[in-house]
Amino acid sequence: MAEFHDIKVSDIYKEAKDCVVISFDVPEKLKEKFKFVQGQHLTLRKIINGEDVRRNYSLCSSPLDNEWKVAVKTIREGVFSNFAYNELKKGDTLQVMAPHGEFFVDVDVAASNNYIAFAAGSGITPLMSIMKTHLRQEPNSTFKLFYLNRTVKSIIFKEEIEQLKNEFFGRFQVFHFLTKEHRDIPFLNGRFDKEKMQVLTKTFIDIEDTAHAFICGPQDMIFLIRDELQAAGLPKAKIHYELFFTGSSEEENKRIAEVLEQRIDGTKVTIIDGGKEFHFIMDDDFDNILDGALAAGADLPFACKGGVCSTCKCQIKEGSVKMKKNYALEDKEVAQNFVLSCQAVPTSENVVVDFDV
Ligand code: FES
Repeated sequence: MAEFHDIKVSDIYKEAKDCVVISFDVPEKLKEKFKFVQGQHLTLRKIINGEDVRRNYSLCSSPLDNEWKVAVKTIREGVFSNFAYNELKKGDTLQVMAPHGEFFVDVDVAASNNYIAFAAGSGITPLMSIMKTHLRQEPNSTFKLFYLNRTVKSIIFKEEIEQLKNEFFGRFQVFHFLTKEHRDIPFLNGRFDKEKMQVLTKTFIDIEDTAHAFICGPQDMIFLIRDELQAAGLPKAKIHYELFFTGSSEEENKRIAEVLEQRIDGTKVTIIDGGKEFHFIMDDDFDNILDGALAAGADLPFACKGGVCSTCKCQIKEGSVKMKKNYALEDKEVAQNFVLSCQAVPTSENVVVDFDV
């Protein structure tokens, strides 16, 4: 079941330009369910002008804080973010799904790990949670953060990042990059590009000694950094990223078209959810199992519908599907037949899908 819980906003304040931080008052009876791992996110839901609006926001608090805090940056025509920025207030209630997401590595208290992190804008949110948690729990580990913003004013968590530098003196370093203001050191001006990444991987980062890299921001930036880190010798398994939003490139559209060609009409779908079975026949109007099921009256979890957040994750028990996009599941999950239902195009006459996994 797409389980949302009514949770009160315990605090909301402005943080940097166009950004608010929302804290939730998770009631005692839900605390166990709302336990989270650093880097996970919440799905928030609100009916705005009659529309069921759902968005995922990463938790910026650490699980060690016993707090549930997210940062919401307004985007032009962003229905939810503008509502949060302009209307939401302390004491209001939002519908919230328990934390989920795979953007983390396990904490190892005995580790002496060197981590690196790249963020752009609000991509800092999950990294705040990740950095605080590892630095606090692994006394011998270090973190280097490379953080891109437009201007100094738009740096989200600027103060808190400064505090982390003091709290973890010698173990935490931050390098701010700006696109719309000039800094004294030319290298710190402008976006991450191939050239910059090559300098970073040769001089600022000891690739061989890097335990894990975390990247969060727009798709192009993530893929560029991922590819450059790999080219510099960092194994794929050590590179973790979280996309906030993805458009479709030409190449991707081609791949999607190929997947859609394999689609079978009128697939009989069985959904297992909350221990119950729900049956329907895929309507021609929908190409993916999630939309087909929602139209048939099922109540299933989803948020981005863009293959990014993994809220709609499920496992194929029988039959086959092909995913149009997947920016959320790891290779090993795909090998275990996990799919994103919002991207799952049925390619067999019968499909059984389990959401209880
Ligand atoms: S709803 Fe986000 S990946 Fe499907």
